[in-house]
Amino acid sequence: MAGDIMDVHPDSSGWVVRPGNEADLAEIVLLERETLTAPHWSAAEYSAVLKWSGDGGLRRCVYVAAQGRFLAGYAVGSAVGVGHEAEAELESVVVRDELRRQGLGSALCRAVMEWSRREGAAAIALEVRAASAGAVKLYGGLGFVATGRRPRYYHDPADDAVVMHCALSGKRPSSVGADLYGDAVLF
Ligand SMILES: CC(C)(COP(=O)(O)OP(=O)(O)OC[C@H]1O[C@@H](n2cnc3c(N)ncnc32)[C@H](O)[C@@H]1OP(=O)(O)O)[C@@H](O)C(=O)NCCC(=O)NCCS
Repeated sequence: MAGDIMDVHPDSSGWVVRPGNEADLAEIVLLERETLTAPHWSAAEYSAVLKWSGDGGLRRCVYVAAQGRFLAGYAVGSAVGVGHEAEAELESVVVRDELRRQGLGSALCRAVMEWSRREGAAAIALEVRAASAGAVKLYGGLGFVATGRRPRYYHDPADDAVVMHCALSGKRPSSVGADLYGDAVLF
């Protein structure tokens, strides 16, 4: 992943979506712990993702929406395989409660979708709690369509998983919000 993107678009509100790094780790873990519906991983697992070097064919990315070191949210993605075999997954997206409905979740998803496209994936998949109607709507707005359901997939609280897919088609995802600018999505 590229390093921090320090410049901000002149007409932005100051939020930058950039690759996450080790200095973001504590805030990512804190934010995840506050978010019941987020996938829960240990700090060591996040650290491994942030340091990931692509061993074994699995690549990971973490993007954060930030102003300096203050994080509004983060997203995690992964890709395996190469060429037409490449498969990508949007593993997690979380936005701080008080900063939702401003386009940050969409921008984080778009960053992972663009990363996945660059990794060669023709499509990206995800699983989402059936009860997370807002998240399902967010993904639908980005071009994801529901392709299946896994009954009782989640615990604490129990829920079905809705499986969704989105074709990346070699093009940049073109939905909501911000411009992609190198590795950063700027507002
Ligand atoms: C899901 C989540 C990431 C959305 O983040 P966000 O920054 O609010 O998303 P956006 O502002 O980009 O929303 C874009 C669109 O998605 C839909 N949407 C998002 N949240 C919604 C909600 N709670 N209810 C209804 N629609 C919602 C809307 O269509 C919205 O557009 P609008 O605000 O113009 O109506 C955020 O609510 C969150 O962190 N939830 C807890 C964690 C979670 O469940 N993550 C998903 C599974 S990992």
